[in-house]
Amino acid sequence: MPSQIRTVVIPAAGLGTRFLPLTKAVPKELAPVVDRPAIHYVVKEAMDAGIGHIAIVTSPGKQALEEYFKPSQEIDALLRRRGMNAVADELQQFAQRLTFSYPIQDRQLGLGHAVLCAREAAGREPFAVILPDDLLVGDEPVLAQMLRAWQRRPGNYVAVEEVPRERISAYGVVDLAAGSEADGRTYRLKGMVEKPPADKAPSNLGIVGRYLLMPEVFDALAETRPGAIGEIQLTDGIARSMDRCPLYAYRYAAVRYDCGTPLGLLHASLSLALRRPDTAAEVRGWAQETLRM
Ligand code: G1P
Repeated sequence: MPSQIRTVVIPAAGLGTRFLPLTKAVPKELAPVVDRPAIHYVVKEAMDAGIGHIAIVTSPGKQALEEYFKPSQEIDALLRRRGMNAVADELQQFAQRLTFSYPIQDRQLGLGHAVLCAREAAGREPFAVILPDDLLVGDEPVLAQMLRAWQRRPGNYVAVEEVPRERISAYGVVDLAAGSEADGRTYRLKGMVEKPPADKAPSNLGIVGRYLLMPEVFDALAETRPGAIGEIQLTDGIARSMDRCPLYAYRYAAVRYDCGTPLGLLHASLSLALRRPDTAAEVRGWAQETLRM
């Protein structure tokens, strides 16, 4: 078995209804967080974790995503002339260290189906999945944290965090095996359920958009029927392959921002701008002024 994960699948075929009217013309994954598109941050997270192949699952009409990651010498020169070297350097690293592919999902049948559309792109190897709505900010990229655990104990991994009871029914929720703590942050699971009613949730640990998966998950997804909200769920496909691969939850160390709604995106922008030395003072000043009004 390869000791490395080489491909990350990023599902990005959704219509972005919550972002209308913007998404009439622009994929929601290109909506900015401070000064870079949301998807830029998760691609960088994958690159920083040592992953070299980015498979972005798109749908017809979202060619702008492909355009964004296409290397351009003119833009590089322009950025550098304007003193925007940090952005230019990141784009240059993308061009040098990453290859991109764009599997198409032409019917919106659910997240599990979107991942299945990347089956050929990923090959018969372990792979990662990042949901670009979940922006995770911490000292170490969450995918890198999970890869360390995966190298110690291979299997299927889902990232989790504690979720308040009133919000748990919006998540996939994990069911811990008895005596499940494998080490400080890794837990062995005996099941998972997508969007359970709060009183049926098996724990308070909700799945967040980072996964490390074995290729058997593709076989399981191909057999998975629509589940919660009538969609083919990734959670169900992973749970199905439990008899073939051990299943773990990884409780990561990072702060999560939900970029799946316009307000969540605003929260992410504000928090990131307050953390960045080049923007913090100005944004703090505006925030104080706005709160006084
Ligand atoms: C998806 C997954 C769910 C997970 C969530 C995290 O749901 O199906 O298991 O908890 O992402 O963001 P969605 O938010 O697309 O409904």
